[in-house]
Amino acid sequence: MTTHISFPDGFLWGAATAAYQIEGSPLADGAGPSIWHRFSHTPGMVKNGDTGDLACDHYRRRRDDVALMHELGLEAYRFSVAWGRVMPDGTGAVNQRGLDFYRALVDELLEAGIQPMATLYHWDLPAALDDRGGWLSRDVASWFADYAQIVTRALGDRVAMWVTINEPWVIATGGYIHGGLAPGHRNVFEGPIATHNILRAHGAGIRALRSETRAPAGIVLNLEPKYAATDDEADLAAVRRADAFMNRQYLDPLFRGAYPDEMGELFSEAWPSHQAADFDLIATPIDFLGVNYYSRGLTANDSSAPVERASRVKNRTSAYTEMGWEVFPRGLSDILVRVATDYTKLPLYITENGAAFYDPPVAPFEGIDDPLRTGYLRDHLVAVGDAIARGADVRGYFVWSLMDNFEWSEGFAKRFGIVHVDYATMQRTVKRSGRWYAEVVRRNGVEMD
Ligand code: FCB
Repeated sequence: MTTHISFPDGFLWGAATAAYQIEGSPLADGAGPSIWHRFSHTPGMVKNGDTGDLACDHYRRRRDDVALMHELGLEAYRFSVAWGRVMPDGTGAVNQRGLDFYRALVDELLEAGIQPMATLYHWDLPAALDDRGGWLSRDVASWFADYAQIVTRALGDRVAMWVTINEPWVIATGGYIHGGLAPGHRNVFEGPIATHNILRAHGAGIRALRSETRAPAGIVLNLEPKYAATDDEADLAAVRRADAFMNRQYLDPLFRGAYPDEMGELFSEAWPSHQAADFDLIATPIDFLGVNYYSRGLTANDSSAPVERASRVKNRTSAYTEMGWEVFPRGLSDILVRVATDYTKLPLYITENGAAFYDPPVAPFEGIDDPLRTGYLRDHLVAVGDAIARGADVRGYFVWSLMDNFEWSEGFAKRFGIVHVDYATMQRTVKRSGRWYAEVVRRNGVEMD
């Protein structure tokens, strides 16, 4: 028996990418280097020494990629703007040629009937700003606001939706505490400072862009529901800490105007005091929340782990992706329902969801069969449908990713695309998951056999 799970009318179906992961040509046409350019060119930081110098060569293949999106029937495309293309030094002079690239992209998307969702910051801070303190400087809020204003003045209402910043937790934790991501610092004291400035920049960015556009604007958080490995009191307490660290550290200031009480306990002497006025800025009203979801955290007490004193454990009966992330679709409905119940009635968008799996090499004419990715996407879409049935106001879904790309410190080894990229020839081949997704978009729903 085939069941059809349908989505509300107007539900928006898209795919997502980010500038440094796909564009290549990072210094072309007057662009300034980003912290990711610097990081990937530092030996030992990225697997196999991979860099974004060429990536998917999207900077030069933009038109073909928009045509591909059109062929897939996508209704929306989430991309990011590279700050250093628009402002090579991060502040001051504007590089018209950088803006022109995104203007052309937006025009072509609109011509193809695809709604552009633009993210202003997806991890590629101009290196010149890192030299001035980067996310550790309080000034970054006004630097970001100026940049947001310049981009929204140029692209304004032709962009359907604006996102300020992608995944503050990952920026602060990967970039400043664990150091696996640019700029590669390993300093617990810096984490909360970066977090606070990222959130202030978000608020300042929203205020700045409001003077240029009426298009809806929001922020994207990576949310990961935490579940206890056992019902031991120690593990239950670990869940509360892990949840405060990854989820509530961001949800609470954005929607409740304060950090969770646990932050002082988590960071101890590394937790700074904050100016009260900052919280008005951080909680500046937004129009939607973007949620990136990949996995859950099955959590155990671990006194040796920094900050959260918790670690993620394996579930022997679950499947895992190539990233080592547990496949757990129910976590997506749980987190969406929780956000809707505890935090906000704003529209929610799944701004990223997807999986890296090994794609078996087959002759190109036969296509690329990736049943594990298709299964992952299907089960997570069912979870989204379930969240909607449970009352969450979910308005759209963006698969990560449109195409295989530079997976940060993992380089090109991890493939998330519904379109395969042959990095030797740059040829794009739609995977079976891509054909399947196109059908989901066309029917506004999922067929289950
Ligand atoms: C998210 C990032 C995105 C991509 C996926 C796999 O954290 O936002 O750029 O790397 O993970």
